[in-house]
Amino acid sequence: MEESKLRNLLESLTLKEKIGQLIQLSGEFYSDEEEIVTGPQEKLGISSEMIELSGSVLNVAGAKKTKEVQKNYLSKSRHKIPLLFMGDVVYGYKTVFPVPIGLGSTWNPDLVKNAYEVIAEEASAGGVDVTFAPMVDLVRDPRWGRVVEGISEDTYLTSTFSEAMVTGFQNDLNPMNSLASCVKHFVGYGAVEGGRDYNTVDMSERHLRQYHLPPYQAAVNADAKMVMTAFNTYDGVPISGNDFILKDILRDEWGFDGVIISDYAAIKELIDHGVAADNKEAAKKAIEASLDIDMKTNIYATQLEPLVENGEISERLIDESVWRILKLKNDLGLFENPYRSLSEEAEEEKLLTEDNRSLAREVVSESAILLQNNKNVLPLKEDENILLTGPYGDEKALIGFWAIYGENADVVTLKEGIEKVVEPDHFQFVKGTTISEDYAFLQDFGASKGKAQSFVMSDEEKESELKEAIRRGKEADTIILALGEHTLQSGEGGSRTNLELPKNQKDFLNEMVKLGKKTVLIIFSGRPLILTDEVEQVDAILQVWFPGTEGGNGIADLLFGKANPSGRVTMSFPYNVGQIPVYYNHYKTGRPLGTSTHTGRFVSKYLDSPNDPLYPFGYGLSYSDIVYEDLTLDKNKMQEDEEINVSVTVKNNSELKAKEVVQLYIQDIAGSVVRPVKELKAFKKVELAGNSSKKVHFKITLDDLKFYTKEMAYEAEAGNFNVFVGPNSKDVLQDGFELI
Ligand code: GLC
Repeated sequence: MEESKLRNLLESLTLKEKIGQLIQLSGEFYSDEEEIVTGPQEKLGISSEMIELSGSVLNVAGAKKTKEVQKNYLSKSRHKIPLLFMGDVVYGYKTVFPVPIGLGSTWNPDLVKNAYEVIAEEASAGGVDVTFAPMVDLVRDPRWGRVVEGISEDTYLTSTFSEAMVTGFQNDLNPMNSLASCVKHFVGYGAVEGGRDYNTVDMSERHLRQYHLPPYQAAVNADAKMVMTAFNTYDGVPISGNDFILKDILRDEWGFDGVIISDYAAIKELIDHGVAADNKEAAKKAIEASLDIDMKTNIYATQLEPLVENGEISERLIDESVWRILKLKNDLGLFENPYRSLSEEAEEEKLLTEDNRSLAREVVSESAILLQNNKNVLPLKEDENILLTGPYGDEKALIGFWAIYGENADVVTLKEGIEKVVEPDHFQFVKGTTISEDYAFLQDFGASKGKAQSFVMSDEEKESELKEAIRRGKEADTIILALGEHTLQSGEGGSRTNLELPKNQKDFLNEMVKLGKKTVLIIFSGRPLILTDEVEQVDAILQVWFPGTEGGNGIADLLFGKANPSGRVTMSFPYNVGQIPVYYNHYKTGRPLGTSTHTGRFVSKYLDSPNDPLYPFGYGLSYSDIVYEDLTLDKNKMQEDEEINVSVTVKNNSELKAKEVVQLYIQDIAGSVVRPVKELKAFKKVELAGNSSKKVHFKITLDDLKFYTKEMAYEAEAGNFNVFVGPNSKDVLQDGFELI
């Protein structure tokens, strides 16, 4: 629709009709069975009129269902303004890819962009218009359950994936396969104190701008159509009522003219936070902060009209929000075709296809991180006698917390993946033990206490499972232990303070390693767990996250060498939980361990733990012997208008072809404010044929040296810089240059 007509449409709306566009309800309100609606309606306290006028709906999908709802909605709509279908299609629709922390671990934004194009094609066939993804919160605290949805502890890496994911989803809003991207949770949510979900966030503006904002700016620069507010505060004001964050930065500084939606009931939480006395004040603060859509409360629905009629807010604020929403619906082509590409035929044709599965399988093999491979026990030989044991050996629930349209039934388990490779008489599976000894967390998802506990093995079962596992283990050459955290111990509200494997799993592992066989530990989790004990007990460790629909196949490809591991750590694995937060790009401090003139305990260190994590940012092994040499800078003095050409030779001294993530870091040795010991500035994932070498090139420009100075100007300062290039943030070649 031409903008002039869209403007006329806006002007023709009544105040109630305008406010309706600012409301988002969930699916039960669109049921055609009256009794299903009345319960939620009374609970929410919203009129039937406002339900009919609400402009978007949360988490309704499926071609048949969305078509029915849209048709019914439009039949009652005076102006035929289509309903907008929004949902959490975060890392998969029907074909579910690895969870985002696994996608980040690929260090392959192009591959992930392809995956997001597939997700968009599947979800738009299912009638979804807007996805609440990607989540680009910086994640540095694995106690926080939502690190599963994050990419990395590093701003640059997260920004790179932010752009790739938004672009992959939106695909120029092609009506046949695209989703408008709602980037979330703006901003700083990953910095909740204590890693405890929904907790206080407090940081300096410098820290916010240097580390947390850039991934969102990358999304906005990639034309993300929507932004979701975070639950947390910034500088004492919850984001959903924070005009500095939403207006001064997002809208005025960045020029974002898209839609801002609250997170679930976050406007009401302005009252819980204590910055609004009642619904009226909450509504006023949110709309004045230019928050456009109220997700799942009755606050806009009941408060905005009297606020306008009493002259406490200008109707112009409402018009501006409605305009942004109508523009989004227009950009999606909904006025011309409210159904876009949804169709049951398209679903049949496009969902969970062999091509989509094979892409997912490839992503699984690139997302897994080989953390240890003593004695090169991996890759396995197909004629080895293998025992697969542990609760994740034949587990279908591999799709993680936010794959609400995916089906565990579609998942290829690890056992199924291995069975396709080995002979039956060479392969045994014994479950051995359960994921946990306590499933109380399932009660938050509707399970009864009895049901939750039914997942725990009886003493007899434990004894017989262990006995059988030991019996089979004695016959095996290699024991694969598939262990990890429960998928619902991760994700939203999944904050935990003990990040080691559960005691029953550790006890089981202790018994199995006594057999003295080659042992491969495979970890399924949505966060870095504490693996410090296991490192000493097993030969190989493969971190596979929650690998999604093709998990078993992708992991089997790695286990038997059909794929060479290329995943790299994006979030440091702590040595113990007491170190948290532990991340690579930390500041030196005035008493840096190892270089301070102070001695003994009087430097920045622990009495009972190393400072370094167990596995650092960027770390990961492959089956190849990769060597870095000959780091060269074409100059060691750089003018502001110049750039430095960096090259390094990377050698693959083994037969097996490899994908290697070559990483370039820079250290600003002295600035007007403290600077990190190193910062990732570029990376390249390069393919290396067997017994080959490649010269890899990078450019360092003035932009790479900029930061928020003491005066809060974003610029570079003259001085000396170190350059580091290597396979991870620790084992690096070093050179240096001066910016003059
Ligand atoms: C949840 C989450 C957010 C999600 C939204 C809608 O509370 O915080 O990530 O998109 O509600 O389901």
